Amino acid sequence: PKDRGWVVPIMYQYQGFWHHTWQLQGVLAFQKHFLAQDTDILLVTAPKSGTTWLKAISFAIINRIQYPIASKNHPLLKNNSHVVVPFVEQLYADDNSNPDFSETPPRLFATHVPYVSLPESIHNSKVKIVYMCRNPKDLFISAFHFTNKLRPEHMGTNSMEEMFDLFCKGVFLYGPYWDHVLGFWNESLKRPKEVLFLKYEEMKEQPTTQVRKLAEFYGCPFTPEEEKEGIVDAILGLCSFESLSNMEVNKKGYLPTGEMKQAYFRKGEVGDWKNHLTAEMAEKLDMITECKFQGSGLKF
Ligand code: A3P
Repeated sequence: PKDRGWVVPIMYQYQGFWHHTWQLQGVLAFQKHFLAQDTDILLVTAPKSGTTWLKAISFAIINRIQYPIASKNHPLLKNNSHVVVPFVEQLYADDNSNPDFSETPPRLFATHVPYVSLPESIHNSKVKIVYMCRNPKDLFISAFHFTNKLRPEHMGTNSMEEMFDLFCKGVFLYGPYWDHVLGFWNESLKRPKEVLFLKYEEMKEQPTTQVRKLAEFYGCPFTPEEEKEGIVDAILGLCSFESLSNMEVNKKGYLPTGEMKQAYFRKGEVGDWKNHLTAEMAEKLDMITECKFQGSGLKF
């Protein structure tokens, strides 16, 4: 039925991952038509892993010569992160075979598409991929608020118990969550120069280390002069939860219903699941995560 977005009939499984009808078309067109350039940078996440934050930080790092962080005209002050760094499958959903990628290199894109469904041209290129994952308990709570409370017109409504049950079975946007994470984790072990694996929790705990790591990975490490001027703190300040969530441009707009702030800047904390999941639910998710990640070397 129309108002039950999370119920399986209006989701499709493609190459082992779940997609909504309205997003699959863009995913297929991206997979078929995208021609990667070796200088491209692709940010990848499962939904609600901190994409908005990663986009802002990456954009600020990569474009810091053209757009000094302290500039009053910095694009992040005027556009939200999802406009500045678009989801590439969304560009293909808007224009099926030929979206306008007129930027000069490096082109910076984001996607939620799982590794297996990325275009061949990305698999076979030196495109730099940054994958940010988040612990599944916080991710689930973030997704529950996003889908049920904020976007019921797109996602439908389920009780937390129903959605939890589906999430555990892998039925989640671009899910199963665990398979999504493992696809990029395994690739990062095989090709560390091209695939960097980050955790939201590490970004919260050691933001300066992670920002330096990102700049190095992108091939534009901070110079001693930049370090002396406090570039890392400036980037983190511009892109902090407080800073981004209080910008006018991030309060409304982007989403047609105008609930940008609550949708993308809810709490931004680690461990909020404790306020929402029962002990039994938490234990179940921990157990699935342990089983799924067993032998991979990946732990939360
Ligand atoms: P919560 O719902 O737990 O608050 P995405 O961008 O992938 O949709 O993820 C959204 C989650 O990232 C939300 O989590 C949001 O609050 C958090 N987030 C957004 N901007 C952030 C920032 N600058 N710093 C830390 N967390 C941020």
